[in-house]
Amino acid sequence: MPLQKKATLLITNIGQLITMEGPVPRVSDSMNDLGLIKNGAVAVAGEEILAVGESQAVEGKVDLAEGCIAIDADGGVVTPGFIDSHTHPVFSRTREDEFEMRILGKSYMDIANAGGGIRASVRDLRETSKADLTKKTKTRLDTMLSYGTTTIEAKSGYGLSTESEIKSLEIINNLNETHPIDLIPTFLGAHEVPDEFRDKREKYIDLLINEMIPEVTKNKLAEFCDIFCEEGVFNIDESRRIMIAAKKHGLKLKFHADELGASGGSELAAELGAVSAEHLVHISDNGIKAMAEAGTVAVLLPGTCFSLGHSNYAPARKMIDAGIVVALSTDCNPGSSYTESLPMIISLAGLNYKFTAAESISAVTVNAACAVDRGGQIGMLQSGLVADIVLWKINDYRELPYHYGVNSVQKVIKRGKIVIG
Ligand code: NIG
Ligand code: FE
Repeated sequence: MPLQKKATLLITNIGQLITMEGPVPRVSDSMNDLGLIKNGAVAVAGEEILAVGESQAVEGKVDLAEGCIAIDADGGVVTPGFIDSHTHPVFSRTREDEFEMRILGKSYMDIANAGGGIRASVRDLRETSKADLTKKTKTRLDTMLSYGTTTIEAKSGYGLSTESEIKSLEIINNLNETHPIDLIPTFLGAHEVPDEFRDKREKYIDLLINEMIPEVTKNKLAEFCDIFCEEGVFNIDESRRIMIAAKKHGLKLKFHADELGASGGSELAAELGAVSAEHLVHISDNGIKAMAEAGTVAVLLPGTCFSLGHSNYAPARKMIDAGIVVALSTDCNPGSSYTESLPMIISLAGLNYKFTAAESISAVTVNAACAVDRGGQIGMLQSGLVADIVLWKINDYRELPYHYGVNSVQKVIKRGKIVIG
């Protein structure tokens, strides 16, 4: 029986159609299940997916609207739009000077303790106009989109004053209205203690709890609250207090946890019912157990270890074996991981976590959707869901990690419209 709606866009001749239909989330072995259809087609009506399946079946049941755009995928790979579930895109100056200092022997923490790092980006952002920051952020979003990312989680965290955190969150919210990428805003006022509070950190925690969090939630500027929970930044007790306050104000929780040392951040994330905990390079066995039991998603960021020149990577396979939901993300930021490319992250996850290409694709689609509390709503090609689709210039999805450092995107479709290609 023909479908009621007519197709406004029809993609045919898809050699490998990766639908991701199947369990949400993908855990353990099911991460290798891509819901793959050979010789497939996708029909779109307006902003939504109308039909997905084998070419003949889709073409047999779909009527074409007048002016329907027909795309021949030429036997290539098609996937859902990728979801980058951990980014810091609102910043001003880049920090290539620090990258070179690290190459020459300084550590990330040496640079941070000398006043560089996050605090340097805070000084820059405060001096940059909203218009200039918006322009710079938009350029990063354009690059992300060109690499196949159609949804991101975007954090503030380089303002660290009520005014400049709000400025950052407003930029994220405004770009969500004007840019094809969907942005999910996260308040990261607890990214670092800013210069003016170094000798009175209690006062900054007080400001976070009693002014910034209430102000951000009153103005509905963020969906999540995140914190850099790490010895030397915010310790466990401080993190607990700040995150309990955030939760009371209705924010969902995310944690930068156990990145540079095992501080117990993953256990705390699980205890407070956080949606996700991220980095996790030094996660303990207890932390793994706690996250698996709580259903806290692990967002792994191999680009950060790569760009910091660290040889230690998160124990990703151990987490998968424990049944944790695992997502992959760029951590795009000016300090520890300056990349907009999820395909590059997929290469790094293959080599350093021993992820198959299919596991990595699950981690940037279905599971990344869970990391932003949108499991089953995005990251899949299924009739009725939003039409976020990427066509790749490759014939086998395993080329994604293999052909590294290049952009294999052919076309990006966001909400049913061709936005790249
Ligand atoms: O996720 N770890 C904390 N925050 C960022 C780094 C921020 C920066 O250095 O500017 C991260 O790696
Ligand atoms: Fe981060």
